Amino acid sequence: MDRYVVFGNPIGHSKSPLIHRMFAEQTGELLDYSTMLAPLEDFTGCAREFFHQGRGANVTVPFKEDAYRLADTLTERAKRAGAVNTLSKLADGTLLGDNTDGAGLVRDLTVNAGLSLNGKRILLLGAGGAVRGALEPLLAERPSSLIIANRTVEKAELLAESFDDLGPVSASGFDWLREPVGVIINATSASLSGDLPPIASSLIEPGRTFCYDMMYARESTPFCHWATQHGAAVSMDGLGMLVEQAAEAFFLWRGVRPASAPVLAELRRQLA
Ligand SMILES: NC(=O)c1ccc[n+]([C@@H]2O[C@H](COP(=O)([O-])OP(=O)(O)OC[C@H]3O[C@@H](n4cnc5c(N)ncnc54)[C@H](OP(=O)(O)O)[C@@H]3O)[C@@H](O)[C@H]2O)c1
Repeated sequence: MDRYVVFGNPIGHSKSPLIHRMFAEQTGELLDYSTMLAPLEDFTGCAREFFHQGRGANVTVPFKEDAYRLADTLTERAKRAGAVNTLSKLADGTLLGDNTDGAGLVRDLTVNAGLSLNGKRILLLGAGGAVRGALEPLLAERPSSLIIANRTVEKAELLAESFDDLGPVSASGFDWLREPVGVIINATSASLSGDLPPIASSLIEPGRTFCYDMMYARESTPFCHWATQHGAAVSMDGLGMLVEQAAEAFFLWRGVRPASAPVLAELRRQLA
């Protein structure tokens, strides 16, 4: 049976095996997918060993940049992201590195939530790996502007400079912004510690602004809670992004696109 894994450290919490098992059942693809704890000091050795037999791998924290360096070739979006979350062994034995995180985000927003990003003012909070992966797919949707706001403003500025050939992207500090925007995407890890990025509630136009938190949790995340309190039209967490980035990887490996809705519904049921 074709073998796939998700590399991470820690990795016990990963929902990827469950997601890919559901995709495999649904599409009739025969594959084995499990977690693999890679040592912090030797991701490369562990991955090379796995790929003697293995067909593909997802890569999560903290190895996405190691996977970028390991890949023999990279997709354009992985090059732009500077990180790889999906490795595929090609027919000639070389490794292709891709990044499906941003595509997963955009699919969750545009297909699952039915949101058009075209012509919208988008505010992205954070300037870490998740934002780097999301910028190219978001700019491809042709927003009227995309502002990256970050606690460390220099990081937002560097990102804006690296992507400004793809669209109208700029950088900001959190507290410089006041005017309402169409879409706010929280890609900070603040929610992990129960925090919120310090942004003005005037950024939300009640009944119109769409708010999205890349983080997900059993209960409403602090950012989703804040968005709802201030009248956001929609406030959505990142569980759909997780499923969609996996669906994109599955498609890359197997050439079949699984239906994500039943898998998302089952994950939501299990979270609850
Ligand atoms: N749903 C999904 O499939 C999916 C996929 C990828 C990521 N994510 C989520 O996206 C989030 C970011 O991930 P990442 O990989 O980009 O992390 P990362 O590279 O570590 O970046 C973290 C970002 O959060 C900011 N930050 C951290 N604590 C903060 C606080 N208390 N207040 C304000 N800003 C804070 C950091 O600002 P500084 O630069 O100033 O340190 C940085 O911009 C995480 O919650 C992760 O779980 C979800």
